[in-house]
Amino acid sequence: MEQLKKNEAFGGPEGPVVLVVMDGVGIGKNPESDFVKIANTPNLDWLREHAIYTEVKAHGVAVGLPDDGDMGNSEVGHNAIGCGRVFAQGAALVGDAIASGSMYEGSVWQELIANVNDKGSALHFIGLFSDGNVHSNINHLEAMLLKAKEQGVKKARIHPLIDGRDVPPTSVLEYVERFDAFLADINADGSVDYCVASGGGRMNITMDRYDADWSMVDRGWKAHVKAEATPFASMKEAIEQFRANKPGILDQDLPAFVIERDGAPVGPIVDGDSVIFFNFRGDRSLEITKAFEADEITEFDRGPKPNVIYAGMMQYDGDLGVPEKYLVTPPAIDRTMSEYLSNAGVKQFAISETQKYGHVTYFFNGNNSGKFATETWMEIPSDVCPFENAPVMKAVEITDEVVKAIEGGEYKFIRLNFPNGDMVGHTGVFDAVKVAVEAVDAGVGRIMEAVKQANGIMVCSADHGNSDDMCELDKKTGELKLNEEGKCKPKTAHSLNPVPAIVYDPSGVSKARKADVADAGIANLAATCITLLGYVPPADYTPSIVEVG
Ligand code: 3PG
Ligand code: CO
Repeated sequence: MEQLKKNEAFGGPEGPVVLVVMDGVGIGKNPESDFVKIANTPNLDWLREHAIYTEVKAHGVAVGLPDDGDMGNSEVGHNAIGCGRVFAQGAALVGDAIASGSMYEGSVWQELIANVNDKGSALHFIGLFSDGNVHSNINHLEAMLLKAKEQGVKKARIHPLIDGRDVPPTSVLEYVERFDAFLADINADGSVDYCVASGGGRMNITMDRYDADWSMVDRGWKAHVKAEATPFASMKEAIEQFRANKPGILDQDLPAFVIERDGAPVGPIVDGDSVIFFNFRGDRSLEITKAFEADEITEFDRGPKPNVIYAGMMQYDGDLGVPEKYLVTPPAIDRTMSEYLSNAGVKQFAISETQKYGHVTYFFNGNNSGKFATETWMEIPSDVCPFENAPVMKAVEITDEVVKAIEGGEYKFIRLNFPNGDMVGHTGVFDAVKVAVEAVDAGVGRIMEAVKQANGIMVCSADHGNSDDMCELDKKTGELKLNEEGKCKPKTAHSLNPVPAIVYDPSGVSKARKADVADAGIANLAATCITLLGYVPPADYTPSIVEVG
């Protein structure tokens, strides 16, 4: 790959360029719902008035999703920011591979099917049970089941992970109703036996990420593989019982369940079976994949590993080559900003806390866990607790390290992620979201000061919105949904809103660029940072939002 060219007219600032990703902090539309506005944010307010301030897109086709009805998410967001271009992402690639049938022509699909057809064993599907299109899509699950039936698979077992985080917080029964009807239909001619076998809330079982809490994988393994969890006759019954036991519980937190028929679990995973983990996104797929693939595992007491053929929907980590078998090839994200800067000898520092550490490293570098030569990565351990109880999270500790890195003078490019606006936004607890956004604002304020002292430049943006849109809207009327007390109903998912793109440059060397950026998205941030560092961005990167000199 070519080297970055130096900009003859501008050699970069004396201090570093600092890229702040305020996770889940977008620009809201409804005053009641916009907790970025409701929070007290003197620093962001000042920047809006006095810095270079633009709105950029962070959802839909601007970040490689199938259409503009798709909200952004941290994977596609950090991919776009880090690689400066828009690639068709997992949701689009899997949708296309299924629609065209190319997925079923691949050797992995054929091996999974031949295995169960030869042995008369079960085909299992584990994955997130919604149409959120962030980690998975229930449409993909249904399409694969139809194809499996067509190809002679007699026994399928589904292990739904209940969402409520990328879709409305207590919406699971809508998906259950739809899926029960689907199953009734597919089973109607009596030629196959397809049913739900185990499941649970996605923040309770299976979908941990970045080694934050392996006990989730332990509970998932017990439910899916060993059929050890509370038994019920149906998924609907399980959900209703859990809700009665703990009124107000969110879908994402529901406990694990197992489905029994005639006193026995219907679908433990046993030797000879095939297993498809049908999430396409990697972060929350890597741990359960390790549990199925690794010969030895120390993170939890797995017990004997059944001898199965396991495949992921997609390759989750290009650098480690995980999983071994996958159904769809991920976007070929190459020539990331980190690689260009590394080749140019620019020292880089990346930091966040556990919950978003992989976002600012692995996602930022195109879903590769390998570091480039000039990069240093730092992880601050996250609390293991519901984040509504600790909404400041590790914002202070992250800021301390960033300020140290700015003052230290070693790094020319510093990138960080403040998770608060997103992680607390996902809890739907309004008061906590306000505190979370205020913690981010305070961190931004301290970074501004350090950047100013060091004669650097700060770029401040977000990967997608969340805390800017905290209330459910009625899809038909567009009005706020109210609960029995007349209060807004919390929304836990990301928003479709644009995000700020702020350049704070006390030296005044940079100016907002008007040409070719009318439709700018967060992918334009890579060229922006490269420009501010004194280089000419690669020709195929989406353009910088500023010009220098
Ligand atoms: C999650 O994984 O927590 C949500 O589905 C998406 O959140 P993120 O894209 O901000 O990580
Ligand atoms: Co999120």
